[in-house]
Amino acid sequence: MSNEDNSPPPVVLDNGTGYVKCGFASAEESPPIVFPSCVGRRVVRFEEALDNSSQNSSLTVVGQECIDNRQNYEVSYPIKNGIVTSWQDMILVWEHAIYDELKLTREEIGERTILLTEAPQNPIKNREKMVEIMFTHFGFKGVFVHVQAVLTLYSQGLMTGLVLDSGDGVSHVVPVIDGFTKRQATKRLDIAGRTVTERLIELLGRRGYAVGRTNDVDSIREMKESVCFVAKERKRWLRLARETTACAESYELPDGRRIKVESERFMAPEIMFEPSLVGVESVGVSELVFECRGSTTFPGFGERLKKDLIDLYKERILKSDPNANVEKFVNRVNVETPADRKYSVFVGGSVLANIMKDNDKFWVTRHEYEKLGITKALRKCEGTFHE
Ligand SMILES: Nc1ncnc2c1ncn2[C@@H]1O[C@H](COP(=O)(O)OP(=O)(O)OP(=O)(O)O)[C@@H](O)[C@H]1O
Ligand SMILES: [Mg+2]
Repeated sequence: MSNEDNSPPPVVLDNGTGYVKCGFASAEESPPIVFPSCVGRRVVRFEEALDNSSQNSSLTVVGQECIDNRQNYEVSYPIKNGIVTSWQDMILVWEHAIYDELKLTREEIGERTILLTEAPQNPIKNREKMVEIMFTHFGFKGVFVHVQAVLTLYSQGLMTGLVLDSGDGVSHVVPVIDGFTKRQATKRLDIAGRTVTERLIELLGRRGYAVGRTNDVDSIREMKESVCFVAKERKRWLRLARETTACAESYELPDGRRIKVESERFMAPEIMFEPSLVGVESVGVSELVFECRGSTTFPGFGERLKKDLIDLYKERILKSDPNANVEKFVNRVNVETPADRKYSVFVGGSVLANIMKDNDKFWVTRHEYEKLGITKALRKCEGTFHE
């Protein structure tokens, strides 16, 4: 087949609570364009509105611009805990991704397919709405929706595994068997990166650092990404923090203030392992994984997870099951924390969409949508679930 016969690379759009990851499908694992999935509406005083002076700058902005000019905009996020809650704002975010970032024209969109990602327990109605918007508002030629956790596995070249996907707004533990997820077996915890940042602000506040003003949130997120880690054993690290300088680190905020971070470095991410620390009645990520048997970028995350799983096995299984064997269990627990995991949902989607680029049977086509209606047309995507 000549190059002219090939379809142009599909668009891949990973919709996250905190960040949109988008790009064109390719065989190489190229990193996506990333921007915050938020919309900012200009704060305009009544007097300003009267004299028209507010018309000189944009009234609505999307992505990084909202964060950079936070003081001038009221910022909102259309995705909450992985699920779209404001379609009006979601469309603005998608327009920004497709027109401004990927720089596609209307004509080009009509020739392209798009692969969208969704959270494991995304309501069917949401999936339908998402696809309808891609056809009616943007005019894509074909659409496919895939579950984020499954794409993470694909990015590792795997079809079966237990995925712990912890992003900005939600953590999921999802068993995937031969590329299929089981909705009922999926476990969800509404604690993830954003909650960790909020916890870091709170803990620093307790030591007298007032870093919680809204325009500081993003700086604290950056600080979290640079200084926080997961403690393999909390008690040991608490003692070290109390009695030594082992985890004291000085960090300079963009406004020039210097902050001395200590036990906050590991006590902020600790809420992912013990949600009760912030009043959330749920077991932590290790227990979620253990129950299934089957924002993980912090240094030490994989080691802690493995340690907790072995401890849980000793406590819950070894005591009651005479056939239990710790060594066997240890050998079977294989925690993979790939270095590029930040973008693994996008990479999995990109590789899959590239393989399926010219396979018309894979994509839900505009023609099928118009002929069959959204519910029937979307049966093509149902293969991603085992109910
Ligand atoms: N180096 C790092 N160390 C710790 N956390 C990090 C690091 N880099 C990014 N993060 C955190 O990861 C989160 C963003 O992850 P991701 O893009 O996977 O989330 P999302 O897809 O937007 O959200 P979700 O999947 O929950 O809907 C943010 O909270 C960010 O601070
Ligand atoms: Mg995500």
